[in-house]
Amino acid sequence: MIPLQPPRRLIDVQIDGETVRVPEGATILDACRAAGKDVPTLCYGDTLTPKNACRVCVVEVEGARTLAPACSRKAEAGMKVGTGTERARHSRKVVLELLGSSVDLSTTPRAAEWTAEYGADPARFGADAATVAQPAKVDNDLYVRDYSKCILCYKCVDACGDQWQNTFAIAVAGRGFDATISTEFDAPLTDSACVYCGNCVEVCPTGALSFRTEFDMRAEGTWDESRQSETTTVCSYCGVGCNLTLHVQDNKIVKVTSPHDNPVTKGNLCVKGRFGYGYV
Ligand code: SF4
Ligand code: SF4
Ligand code: FES
Repeated sequence: MIPLQPPRRLIDVQIDGETVRVPEGATILDACRAAGKDVPTLCYGDTLTPKNACRVCVVEVEGARTLAPACSRKAEAGMKVGTGTERARHSRKVVLELLGSSVDLSTTPRAAEWTAEYGADPARFGADAATVAQPAKVDNDLYVRDYSKCILCYKCVDACGDQWQNTFAIAVAGRGFDATISTEFDAPLTDSACVYCGNCVEVCPTGALSFRTEFDMRAEGTWDESRQSETTTVCSYCGVGCNLTLHVQDNKIVKVTSPHDNPVTKGNLCVKGRFGYGYV
């Protein structure tokens, strides 16, 4: 998504030999999408400043020594970009292998598809490969933190911190392989600064953060997105008028998201809009 801004000069960029025109300041990823290219992304979030953490979106820029992360590198006039070159594909394959061997990607949308597309074999490091496996943290009725699925993309930290919520309830703790997203002193969420807006859940790309409803339904085998419908409506609590997207399965609301292209909320909500649907 390119945010609405004052008019900007347009520049021409070549994506796989095809010229596309994008506003100055657009990223290579914006240009790739304008050209209809499907560049995989994991740590990129359309409502957040690119973090450059996962490197699954790398592309080859003619004349550049290193591969460029498409999600954060700005497109420049005359740039020639290759989205599916051997070098870019090999790099994505290794990233997917490293992630897939250490993290549970079972609820990451499209992870299985990309693993197959890039010929990635996460099992090639052997059964003894280190993983981030750990029990899910179920310490409140609203949402669950399952860090065995966390790719450390920091999107939740940015959403909770200076980019949206300004609550700073979660941050990175530990170093190296022991780095993990944590509350202060690793306290239960109920003892932390968290205000349960769920804005971290909204941006998590892997399902490491999920609604308690989704977590419980997955555990009992009843979660079925193909049977869910989505209805976007207006929150009925206060007068701001935030948009809510209700996800309904078997006539019950199973989770609430918010449209990212809404210019006021940009996908963010407060605790009432996100979790206060029990009365419906
Ligand atoms: S629910 Fe809101 S306040 Fe709590 S950790 Fe997530 S973003 Fe921060
Ligand atoms: S919990 Fe989700 S959003 Fe947060 S760092 Fe892990 S994968 Fe990213
Ligand atoms: S999506 Fe670009 S670095 Fe992660």
